[in-house]
Amino acid sequence: MDYGLEPEHARPRPSAAVLVLPPPQQAGGKPLLEALQQRCSAREFSPRELPLAVLSNLLWAAFGVNRPETGGRTAPSAHDWEEIDVYVATAGGLYVYDAHAHVLRKRLERDIRARTGSQDFVAEAPVNLVYVADLSRMVQASAQDKAQYAGPDAGFIAQNVYLFCAAEGLATVVRGMVDRPALASLMGLAPQQRIILAQSVGYPEAR
Ligand SMILES: Cc1cc2nc3c(=O)[nH]c(=O)nc-3n(C[C@H](O)[C@H](O)[C@H](O)COP(=O)(O)O)c2cc1C
Repeated sequence: MDYGLEPEHARPRPSAAVLVLPPPQQAGGKPLLEALQQRCSAREFSPRELPLAVLSNLLWAAFGVNRPETGGRTAPSAHDWEEIDVYVATAGGLYVYDAHAHVLRKRLERDIRARTGSQDFVAEAPVNLVYVADLSRMVQASAQDKAQYAGPDAGFIAQNVYLFCAAEGLATVVRGMVDRPALASLMGLAPQQRIILAQSVGYPEAR
């Protein structure tokens, strides 16, 4: 998948690119109680790609900015650290979601979807989200607190994705079965960046 990247002028790195997402839908949709009724994990995915508008809405629902005046986000985070970065692995490469600019910043040209988990379907899901905690943002926290809070902070984002997918008729499953050292190395993560969970998203496999 190649969403037609434009050069990123703000950061003059030779390989840098930014994908500007369309403005996210922030009204309407399926009633919350219906989405809760339909929330479930699914492990069979159609190879059909997500339209860019759907990807935009998905990322905004996951951990977008819902209060521009304060920079507040759609998921809570301990001490408002906002330490979780949402990485997006697609056939067209690996991106990180910049919620404040609502853009995707390209990190790798390669398709690493198959390496985001140990289950076969991860290679087929068009989008695999990887939730990465940047421990350096958790200022004045003990090592124990960092470990204790990063998990739930990623979990709130994952539940937003579950509910968005339930509302939109998408399939999803959150995943802890990830070879974290191998994936962190492949993603080029720094030592203070820790992979917490991954989550596959796509259209359900047609039967
Ligand atoms: C922290 C966490 C880690 C999980 N890891 C995986 C995983 O690696 N692979 C997988 O297929 N499902 C995984 N799941 C999904 C659970 O298996 C699933 O939520 C559970 O079976 C209940 O099914 P439901 O989500 O349809 O209600 C995980 C769920 C959570 C909350």
